[in-house]
Amino acid sequence: MTQSKRKKSAETPPPPKARVLVLHGPNLNLLGVREPEIYGHTTLSDIHAAMDARGRAAGAVVESFQSNHEGQLIDRIQAAGSEGVDFIIINPAGYTHTSVAMRDALAAVAIPYVEVHLSNIHAREPFRHHSYFSDRAAGVICGLGAYGYMAALEFALSHTLHT
Ligand code: DQA
Repeated sequence: MTQSKRKKSAETPPPPKARVLVLHGPNLNLLGVREPEIYGHTTLSDIHAAMDARGRAAGAVVESFQSNHEGQLIDRIQAAGSEGVDFIIINPAGYTHTSVAMRDALAAVAIPYVEVHLSNIHAREPFRHHSYFSDRAAGVICGLGAYGYMAALEFALSHTLHT
C-alpha cells in the first residue's frame, strides 16, 4: 500500500453500518411542555440524544428531523430515498390521522418504517384511532412514551444490521 493510500484510509472513517432517519411531525418540538400529562416530560432533544448515543454504539447514524409543515416532511422523506437511508422511525403526530400525502411519500421511497406514538392513540378520541401509516408499517408502537422511540430503534438496528 502506498503512503498516500495508507494515510487516506487512516483519515477516512468507515461508512456507517446503518442509517436511520427519525421523523417527528407537528407540535413535537414542544415535547416536555406540551400536555405533559399525555406526552410526558422528556424533550425532543433528550430523545434525540439517547437515540444518537445508542446508534453510535451500534455503528449506526441516527438523524432526527422535526417539522410543523407537511411539505417539509414529504421533502425529507423523498430525500431519504436517494441518501441511502436504511430505516425510518416516524411519529407523524397530527398528520397520522390526515396525511395521505406523507403515506404516499413513504410508499414511493419504499424504506421500511416503524410508526411511533408517545400516547396510546387507541385509548384517546375516536378521530385518533385511525392512522394512514399503520397498515404499511413494519410495526407500530404506541403508549410507551419516549421509550417507544428506543424500542423502535432497537428494532431498526436489528433489522438493518442483521438482515
Ligand atoms: C401523537 C398522537 C397524535 O394523535 C397527536 O396528534 C400527536 C402526538 C403521539 O405521539 O401520541 O401530536 O402522535
